[in-house]
Amino acid sequence: MTLALADRLRHVEGSPTLALAAKAKALAKAGKPVLDFTAGEPDFPTPAHVKQAGIQAIEANHTRYTPVAGILELRKAIANNLAHRLGLKYADAEVMVSCGAKQALYNALQVLCDPEDEVIILTPYWVSYDPLVRLASATPVFVETKEADGFQPDPAAVKRAITSKTKAIILNSPSNPTGAVIEESRLKELAAVVKGARSDDSLLIISDEIYDQIVFPPARVRSIVQVDPTLIDRTILVNGVSKSYSMTGWRIGYAAGPKNVIDAMINLQSHSTSNPASISQYAALQALTGDQQDVQRMVAEFQRRRDRLVNGLNQLKPLRCTMPGGAFYAWCNVSGLGQSADATAAQWLEDALVATVPGEGFGAPGYIRLSFATSLEQIEEALTRLGQWMRTRKPAGAVRSVERG
Ligand SMILES: Cc1ncc(COP(=O)(O)O)c(C=O)c1O
Repeated sequence: MTLALADRLRHVEGSPTLALAAKAKALAKAGKPVLDFTAGEPDFPTPAHVKQAGIQAIEANHTRYTPVAGILELRKAIANNLAHRLGLKYADAEVMVSCGAKQALYNALQVLCDPEDEVIILTPYWVSYDPLVRLASATPVFVETKEADGFQPDPAAVKRAITSKTKAIILNSPSNPTGAVIEESRLKELAAVVKGARSDDSLLIISDEIYDQIVFPPARVRSIVQVDPTLIDRTILVNGVSKSYSMTGWRIGYAAGPKNVIDAMINLQSHSTSNPASISQYAALQALTGDQQDVQRMVAEFQRRRDRLVNGLNQLKPLRCTMPGGAFYAWCNVSGLGQSADATAAQWLEDALVATVPGEGFGAPGYIRLSFATSLEQIEEALTRLGQWMRTRKPAGAVRSVERG
């Protein structure tokens, strides 16, 4: 028997990135030598001193409810971190801790959006933005960024997409999946577009900065609030420890923004998950305030892998891959193969045992995302296998596409 579900869930599917990762894992479990490039998380262990802080939190019996918005020490540490790294001033009360950056985004959209509202999302986008907006009963409006433009947002296109119903624009720099880091000049232009759209300040920005420490020089990440500090009153800045500190399983994210919005997000969270795990909060506190050398080490390793993977893919004509400035994804144009990215990803998995994520779930058919949160050896082996596949591949059309479920 299939029971009827709520209307708002009808257009929300499970995450395609998680589905493909599961498929790759199942093949690996069946003994196949699968090379997994689907990971949306660093492959490094959580830094030892951070793990230790978690263990100490248990020993010290920090195992009870905490304030919904997180322990004050952590909120203060986040505010200090934003002050030191970005030069942004937030009061402790303008910061809330959530169960991962995802919950911060969920909370923000839930408290901001009404059913008629629109939210602008730049494509290619992180797979959860579309469902998160729909779950808030709002409508996503997509604005394309183009490969020829380095996947930089086009402020004029954003301006054209703004209507009287637009509630917010979601920015994500560095981007998952393209790795694009939004240039300062573009951020300035976007800031002008947002401020000029209306006479009041009702058009908001949700700035997802979860990859902001994973950046490869000469790329330089700037928050839109740094570029135009007057936007602090209408920006919800979202970040967390998941990616920078290899802490995806600990589930600690945060939001910083105008107090009334943060208060509403805390209120919402008080009726859903309550506080994020107490132990994880102490670990996150250590991550933000302790030694930062592990972050630098991980970023340096990501850069080596990026260079090898992206250069290697670009040698496999007709594949084409722009050099990502940040995050840990190679975003590869596979349209030259003359078939859908879905079909190509399915063949790579079936024929070469290389697991990737096709672009359809990111609102960008024609591309495949390969995570380089994996070892250099795996990258070498995958390039060899894909090279072999390219030489022997069946002509387009002679293959079936696998379901992405
Ligand atoms: C762009 C982006 N934002 C947010 C998140 C969610 O991060 P967290 O694991 O902290 O919820 C992810 C995770 O993949 C992401 O890629």
